[in-house]
Amino acid sequence: MAEVVFVDSEAAAGTLAAASIRSLILRKPDAVLGLATGSTPLSVYAALAASLAADPIDVSRVRGFALDEYVGLPAGHPESYRSVITRDAVVPLGLNPANIQVPSGDPATIRTAGLDYEAAILAAGGVDVQILGIGRTGHVGFNEPGSSFASLTRVKTLTEKTRADNARFFPSVDDVPIHCMTQGLGTILRARHLILLAFGPEKADAIAAAVEGPVSSSKPGSVIQLHPHVTVIVDEAAASKLDNLDYYRYAWAHKPWPGI
Ligand code: PGA
Repeated sequence: MAEVVFVDSEAAAGTLAAASIRSLILRKPDAVLGLATGSTPLSVYAALAASLAADPIDVSRVRGFALDEYVGLPAGHPESYRSVITRDAVVPLGLNPANIQVPSGDPATIRTAGLDYEAAILAAGGVDVQILGIGRTGHVGFNEPGSSFASLTRVKTLTEKTRADNARFFPSVDDVPIHCMTQGLGTILRARHLILLAFGPEKADAIAAAVEGPVSSSKPGSVIQLHPHVTVIVDEAAASKLDNLDYYRYAWAHKPWPGI
């Protein structure tokens, strides 16, 4: 069962997740981080950046793999996930850009880029901690409903709902790419620890389906129920459709060790 932790702010969620990542890096200086884009993980990167600024540790050997990338945006496009990860995580955390990989969104290579990305993750020894958001469609990474739980990094077609959600970053919805490269649900299952964050009422259905719903590829977030070490960090609004709230609170209050 996933550990479900309630927070009263995104900042508090970021602090919890950042403490876990910091302690991972202290234990394993070449830790492999699974980096998510979008609004959700920003508090994690901000809290970790603040922690590193206040009390520096060596992050020069930390490695990172992005979850996904749009297909077809020109190199250097400000909304490519290479650019977003660089802006939101790599620069503020002081990571070495040479240690950070993002799936290639070059249309010329989409048939092989997934295999190459999987090989790179394996060569790095796998992802130690994967940060995840969840979309209103229930997607994790860009694994839209129907994605196989065995799927690995590959090209996917974005739903119109996801394109509409992401249109806020582009001049219009027509500028949002139709295709992406995304780690598969099978790739995500191989990471050693998953931290899934969600905030706001628009994520309540997706969180309920992921944490307590039937395990179904129609609800890609439900893949977390197949993983042995998952932490779900949610605010009250995103948690509002969960049934077992009292038990999650009780388990967290009586956790035998601090933190996630
Ligand atoms: P968001 O996106 O963090 O911007 O809400 C989450 C997602 O689509 O996975």
